[in-house]
Amino acid sequence: MTVQTTGKVVLGVTGGIAAYKACELSRFLTKWGHNVAVILTENAQEFVTPLTFSTLTNNDVITGMFDSITNTEHIDIAEEADLIVVAPATANVIGKVANGIADDMLTTVIMATKAPVIFCPAMNVNMYENPIVQGNIAKLKKHGCFFEEPAEGELACGVIGMGRMAEPAEILAAVNDIFAGDIINRGIKTDLEGLKVMVTAGPTREAIDTVRYITNFSTGKMGFAIARRAKARGADVLLITGPSSLIPPSGVETIRVISAADMKIVVNERFEEIDVVIKAAAVADVTPKNKSDHKLKKEECGDAIKLGRTDDILKGLGEIKGDKILVGFAAETRDLMENATRKLKDKNLDMIVINDVSSKNAGFGTDTNEVKIIDINGNVDSPPLMMKEGVAELILDKVRELWRAKCR
Ligand code: CTP
Repeated sequence: MTVQTTGKVVLGVTGGIAAYKACELSRFLTKWGHNVAVILTENAQEFVTPLTFSTLTNNDVITGMFDSITNTEHIDIAEEADLIVVAPATANVIGKVANGIADDMLTTVIMATKAPVIFCPAMNVNMYENPIVQGNIAKLKKHGCFFEEPAEGELACGVIGMGRMAEPAEILAAVNDIFAGDIINRGIKTDLEGLKVMVTAGPTREAIDTVRYITNFSTGKMGFAIARRAKARGADVLLITGPSSLIPPSGVETIRVISAADMKIVVNERFEEIDVVIKAAAVADVTPKNKSDHKLKKEECGDAIKLGRTDDILKGLGEIKGDKILVGFAAETRDLMENATRKLKDKNLDMIVINDVSSKNAGFGTDTNEVKIIDINGNVDSPPLMMKEGVAELILDKVRELWRAKCR
C-alpha cells in the first residue's frame, strides 16, 4: 500500500468557529507533504487570517474571486486540484453546493472541479439535524462527495450534541485514504475487516497520595493514531487508554483507565475476544507501595514513598497468547536494537516497534515518529521520519501480513 502519496489539496475554509482547527489541518497536510492551497471565504476571514494559512502552508492564500489578474483562476485551481477539503463546512456552503450555487471562489472551484471533495461539517446540533441540511448532505453524497462526519461533544455554543468538526488528524487520514486510492465507498478501506484489535495508549498514573502521582511524558498520540487507522480500515477496535487529553476516534470503543493495575484488569478481561493486541501504552514500571489516603505533608514525602514494580501486562499476555498476534513498543534511549530484540523474545511478541524517545522529532508528544520495526522472523524495517498516522499505517500493514500468514 502506498502510504506517503501526496498531491495538490485545496483547503476551503468557511465561516465557523471551527476555522481555528483548519489552521492545524493545513499544517498537518503540509507536513505530510501535500501542496496545500487555502481558499478563505469572506466569513472565514472574520475568524482566521490569510497570514496564518500562508505561514503554515508556505503558499499564497486565496481570499476572493478577483484576487488574481486572470479571470480564469477558479478554473485553473479546480483543474490542478487532486482533492478539495472543505473544513469547516457550514450549513451555508453545504446548501449552496448542493443546490448548484457558485457565488464565491470556493463554491465556484467546487463546481468546476472533477477532483473528489470532502466536506467536514461543523455547526450547532439543531442546524446539523435540520432536515434541510440533512437533505443537502444526502444529495451531495449521492453525487459522490465524501463527508467526514462531525463528532458529538460540547459545541462552541455551549450545547452538547452532534456538530463538532472531526479532528484534524482524522481529516488528514481521510485525505490520505483517498490518495491511497484504495477506497470502497466513503473513503473506507476494509482490509482489516473481521479483525478485532485492542490498542492500548497513553501513560498510566500511579497515585502517591490523594493529590500526587507518578507518570511519564506519553500523550497517547501514537496509540490513538493506530486505533483511528485500524477503525478506518474496517477493524473492530477497542482502545484502552491511560489519562490523555486526546479525543477518541469515532466508532472506537474506548475505555479510560488510570493506573497500570487498572489497565491490566481491563486488558485481561477483554483479551479473550481479541485477535490482535497493539500495546502502545507507556505503562509505568513502578508504583508507590502504600498509597496514602490523605495528602502527605512534605516532610513525610521523602521517607514515606516506597516504590514497587508494576506487573508487566504484555509479558503476561505473551504467556497465554494462543494464536493471537501481540505487538509491543519499545521505548528506548540506548542500545535500541539489542533491548528491543530482547523484549520481543522475553514477552513472546510477533512484532516490536522501537521508539527512540530521546529523539527530537520522535517519541512522546510529537506528531511525527521515526521507528524501527522488528518482526518475529527477524525482518527489520526502518521507515523514514513520518507523521504518526503514517507509522500507524505501516504497523497495520505488517499486522495484516502476520495475520494472513497465521491464517494460512
Ligand atoms: N509494558 C506493559 N506493562 C508494563 C510495562 C511495559 O505491558 N508494566 C509494555 C508496553 O506497553 C510496551 C512494552 O511492554 O509495549 C515495552 O515497554 P517498555 O517501557 O519499552 O519496556 P519495559 O518492558 O517496561 O522495560 P524497560 O522499562 O526496562 O525498558
